[in-house]
Amino acid sequence: TTAAAMAATSVVVLDRGNNTTCTINLHGATVVSWRVNNQEQLFVSKLASFDGKKAIRGGIPFVFPQFGAWSFGPQHGFARITRWHLERAPDRLHNGDVEAIFSLMDNEFTRSIWNYQFRITYRLILREKELHFHIGVYNPSKELSFSFNMLLHTYLKVPDVRRCQITGLHGCHFIDKTRENALYQEGREVVTVNEWTDRIYQHTPQEHVITNVVSGRKMRLHKYNFPDTVIWNPWIDRSREMSDFGDDEFPNMLCVEAGNVTSPVILLPGTAFEASQILQIIIEGNVSRK
Ligand code: BG6
Repeated sequence: TTAAAMAATSVVVLDRGNNTTCTINLHGATVVSWRVNNQEQLFVSKLASFDGKKAIRGGIPFVFPQFGAWSFGPQHGFARITRWHLERAPDRLHNGDVEAIFSLMDNEFTRSIWNYQFRITYRLILREKELHFHIGVYNPSKELSFSFNMLLHTYLKVPDVRRCQITGLHGCHFIDKTRENALYQEGREVVTVNEWTDRIYQHTPQEHVITNVVSGRKMRLHKYNFPDTVIWNPWIDRSREMSDFGDDEFPNMLCVEAGNVTSPVILLPGTAFEASQILQIIIEGNVSRK
């Protein structure tokens, strides 16, 4: 591929064979598709906008350096609405997995909102039944520290959100954004979603299992250095308020978002931060049977 063709491309595809692919839109380095044996695992709204301005409604937008409303700039920060650079084109590893690396640095636009130097590398690895995300944030400044939120805003595709269960949240405190940010403690062994839900669960364990995703399977979400887990579904009324989300789409999505939300990460000059996530489809039958 020529440099000019590369520069014009806005989509990067990792292809592992057997109809297992992952597609990343350079707009926000948004993962817009993850197909395993031809089955799509991520939800993208039929009304999603790909105009290179708005955040893409679905897939996995990259939230940085702010989660939620922001007095300095756009909601959920600028990373999801900025064009990223393809640092390393998709490359096949010795074991057949496929890797690509994306990067984002401060530029005139980011500095006009948030006047810090930074460099993010975002490495994705597509395995047979897994997608790995490795993030590094570096502060190249000699004198300035900065603090940030970061979150992977994963929209899982599900046949019916009311049938999904999320493990690992029992006993965790959460901020309920649907109830004026009141703080509660989760009493349920597994969390289900039957109404407008927007919760920031704090200090969650490294692993969640979500049941009844595509094909009735289970999805494991494993995270490292992401202490919080946001659970979001807009339900009926909030769906109507979003111009890039169909009124009837809410039953088919569930956002389970790993991040650093409640306490921002502070990055001292010359230091780096790393976090990662693995999404893994659990194939029953591979696990020991009762
Ligand atoms: C979630 C937030 O992470 O993202 C919600 O907790 C928010 O409050 C949702 O509504 C979607 O945000 P946006 O900016 O993509 O519409």
